[in-house]
Amino acid sequence: MKILVTGGTGYIGSHTVVELQQEGLDVVIVDNLSNSTKDVIYGIEKITGTRPVLEVFDLCDINLTRQLFQKHPDIRAVVHFAAYKSVGESVKEPLRYYHNNILSSINLLKGMMDSGVDHLVFSSSCTVYGQPDKLPVTEEAPLKRPESPYGNTKKVMEDIISDTVSSSGLKAILLRYFNPIGAHESAEIGESPTGIPDNLVPYITQTAIGKRDHLRVFGDDYDTPDGTPIRDYIHVVDLAKAHVVALKRLVDKKNKKDCEVFNLGTGRGYSVLEAIKAFEKVSGGKLNYKIVDRRPGDIVKVWADTKLANRELGWKSGKGLEVMMRTAWNWELKLAGKF
Ligand code: NAD
Ligand code: WQD
Repeated sequence: MKILVTGGTGYIGSHTVVELQQEGLDVVIVDNLSNSTKDVIYGIEKITGTRPVLEVFDLCDINLTRQLFQKHPDIRAVVHFAAYKSVGESVKEPLRYYHNNILSSINLLKGMMDSGVDHLVFSSSCTVYGQPDKLPVTEEAPLKRPESPYGNTKKVMEDIISDTVSSSGLKAILLRYFNPIGAHESAEIGESPTGIPDNLVPYITQTAIGKRDHLRVFGDDYDTPDGTPIRDYIHVVDLAKAHVVALKRLVDKKNKKDCEVFNLGTGRGYSVLEAIKAFEKVSGGKLNYKIVDRRPGDIVKVWADTKLANRELGWKSGKGLEVMMRTAWNWELKLAGKF
């Protein structure tokens, strides 16, 4: 069975390609390499022994998107990761974000419809919940106005997919990720942000390796036990495995609704200071950090209710915070030629 993975040379996509291949599935990747490099397919090959097919083009081009499905008529299902993902950038350049994230997805859906491919797994985000009123947050929680244009592209795409499901044979699973971190145990693939990282863990590892002088901790006066915000960090390999399960659920027709939504988190929250402590423990060094002002738009605390995913997908995250930090650190060491 052939699976199309859009954004498959990216961070979460590459880890998912590994898991799909290890389940014996054939993978075709589409990526325009706007936020990743071709080398990632060699990293995947080192882990699995199979180099995935990589088609380099922009999904915003409808003709190339349609041609892809003609070239690979045996594609049975799609896992759709391709998107821009920087919250800050999306605030500065909303049109670039709406254009890329929405148009590419509409083109993909059109290509799928034309070729009769009717199984889709989509990367959504806990950002659609904003600051939830109740924790842990369930899939039933009301969606809040997203804090950023990026977040809104996820909300809009959930609606577009759900409407397409209602009007066609499409069956979809929307996966709402919490905070994916860490890297593959082999350190052959990991997260490679271009420029200055927005997210906590790449900033921590880049500070520890000496690429950044210090980590700014954005506020310690929140209403949390140590004053710093709380997130549900999940290991990227645990997250990747959930995609394989979701895809099989669709293909084996085990889905209970035509459009299902699942939270992917661990169900446990950690503060920024707890994350730093876990990193210091596994790396064996002190991290240079300073408490600074709050970052505008930051949520105070969020963690997932994972019962639905545990029960319906038969999936559970297994790797703890220290494994997340150790693998993230090994990946940074590998990039520096020290692993
Ligand atoms: P990433 O940037 O590493 O991967 C995305 C890939 O998509 C990149 O390789 C990029 O080159 C490609 N891409 C972007 N636009 C494209 C286009 N128009 N045509 C073809 N390829 C294109 O990001 P990631 O962290 O792996 O995230 C994957 C998905 O998960 C995204 O949809 C993201 O919004 C979502 N998500 C990520 C997080 C997170 O914290 N990393 C959390 C929740 C949801
Ligand atoms: C985590 C915590 C920061 C950097 C973002 C997106 C969200 C989703 C996940 C895609 C926060 C603190 C961070 C730093 C810090 N992505 N921090 N210093 O904000 O939960 O969510 O990624 O859908 O949409 O908004 O993740 O890693 O940026 O921050 O103190 O240099 O670390 O304040 O409390 P966040 P993050």
